[in-house]
Amino acid sequence: MIKLDAKNRTNSADMGYTEIKDPLNKVGNFLPEKTKIKAGNLNFYYGKTHTLKDINLNIYEKKVTAIIGPSGCGKSTFIRLLNRMNDFVADSRAEGEILIDENNIFGKTADPVEIRKRVGMVFQKPNPFPKSIFDNIAYGLEINGAKDRFYIEEKVVNSLKKSALFEEIRHRLRDNALGLSGGQQQRLCIARCIAIEPEIILFDEPCASLDPISTAKIEELILELKKDYTIVIVTHNMQQALRVSDYTAFFLMGELIEYNTTKKIFENPSDRRTEDYITGRFG
Ligand SMILES: Nc1ncnc2c1ncn2[C@@H]1O[C@H](COP(=O)(O)OP(=O)(O)OP(=O)(O)O)[C@@H](O)[C@H]1O
Ligand SMILES: [Mg+2]
Repeated sequence: MIKLDAKNRTNSADMGYTEIKDPLNKVGNFLPEKTKIKAGNLNFYYGKTHTLKDINLNIYEKKVTAIIGPSGCGKSTFIRLLNRMNDFVADSRAEGEILIDENNIFGKTADPVEIRKRVGMVFQKPNPFPKSIFDNIAYGLEINGAKDRFYIEEKVVNSLKKSALFEEIRHRLRDNALGLSGGQQQRLCIARCIAIEPEIILFDEPCASLDPISTAKIEELILELKKDYTIVIVTHNMQQALRVSDYTAFFLMGELIEYNTTKKIFENPSDRRTEDYITGRFG
């Protein structure tokens, strides 16, 4: 039997593809996926506390990867490293590498501002600016150098359409964004994120503060967005991981315990601890 963990992966560096052994693949072949992000021997410390321990993980292009695990296991720390948000934490240190399209984001020539444009982020609590719906999106475009009014308007409308919000609020574009419902605010934050045209979107528990209907809308949206973007989502909701993700990584106390297709993780996990977690025996 094939042991399914992060170490059981093979690289076809020549093709830029990484393959994952998946015994559920009936033909017995490798599933070819293009690696978008590669974490290699990644360690992270808050002061002296060793928070992420030797993480090796490939995230595939235009797929949804769910990060699951109990509170405090390092999920947010991990995804914040992917766009160098942890740069802002004093007395913290990363070791190892994170490659995006084969370039090390910790490399000497890597530009954190550029990285954050390529890797957008949506947080647990919707955080629109106290500005109009229109300006919430236009602001980011202007900061990134856009000046042409027509261009900005088109971008705002397209982003709102892509985030499935436009029809609901088309007559309220000049209203304050804080007047939107929580679910609408979250879709606005997604619109704001995609207006910048990132390649990767990180979602940190994006539905944690939402009702089931808004949650369903965000999940539908994530499935739609993966046609164009590589998506990483942290979630405490196992059903959500099952519904939206192609791959699932289970973290425990800073370690990557198991990583595989979501189907494999939920139907037949290799590690007892994964099984205990997804069946609610701990965490
Ligand atoms: N800025 C910080 N300074 C020091 N320690 C931190 C900081 N941020 C997080 N930690 C600690 O690092 C560990 C991992 O935190 P992290 O937020 O990544 O966990 P998580 O898996 O996202 O948890 P949750 O599911 O509760 O959001 C925790 O023990 C946390 O207390
Ligand atoms: Mg977290």
